[in-house]
Amino acid sequence: MVTTRDLRERAGDEPITMLTAYDAPTASVVDEAGIDAILVGDSMGNAVLGHDSTLPVTLAEVRSRTAAVARATEDALVVADMPFLSFGVDEAESVENAGRMLKEADADAVKLESGPHTVELTRRLSELGIPVMAHLGLTPQHVNRTGGYRRQGTDPDEAERLLELARDHEAAGAFALVLEHVPANLAAQVTAALDVPTVGIGAGPDTDGQVLVITDVLGLDDWSPPFSEQYADLRGEMAEAVTAFREEVEDGSFPAEEHSHVEDDVDGVY
Ligand code: KIV
Repeated sequence: MVTTRDLRERAGDEPITMLTAYDAPTASVVDEAGIDAILVGDSMGNAVLGHDSTLPVTLAEVRSRTAAVARATEDALVVADMPFLSFGVDEAESVENAGRMLKEADADAVKLESGPHTVELTRRLSELGIPVMAHLGLTPQHVNRTGGYRRQGTDPDEAERLLELARDHEAAGAFALVLEHVPANLAAQVTAALDVPTVGIGAGPDTDGQVLVITDVLGLDDWSPPFSEQYADLRGEMAEAVTAFREEVEDGSFPAEEHSHVEDDVDGVY
């Protein structure tokens, strides 16, 4: 079993691998492949729930998907992503919402899209025994403020603010930090400045680990971000399988004899 402590100790050492998963069969494949951490990301909004952003994803959806992933996972650390407005509005409610991910969905940790408003919450959750993975850089829950899914930390002021926030979250107890869509040289500096590991997505090669969205990796979507890598064409394979099924039903070759059974006793009931 991978623990938050194991990951903390991997900073600067063997690269950390993390992938998202949103259901049991995918989680079991990811887990058996030896991936260190499974993120039940609110990216499920775009990836599997048919939304065009992560904003509509609910706490109940993440909880239910996290529980499915946790049931299918033996070794990897399971991290539940806290959806838009489920944290940061009211402290007591944030603690309760995060706590339910551990108590009811069997998550090992939560991830918060972070900013100045999550430093104290990270401290509180960590003190209470709810491990927090922070997330800086591109934080898709803020798309309406940032005006798009753009690269972050691209000027010296923004880069300094990001480094400061990374330090603040480490000091508040975050066990790891996701860095999304930031310049590789900034990610390298943040990584060097922290003792806890950084896990990058679109943040270059010098973070302590890498995370990608599983539907991008598997080629399930017809679009994926430029910093991602497609390692399979499951959309193409699914289309072939579904078409083969339709054709076999239409030409009568499915179901064949081996897919059916006959009970002599029920002959003649009509
Ligand atoms: O929701 C998600 O999948 C994420 C990753 C892209 C880090 O936040």
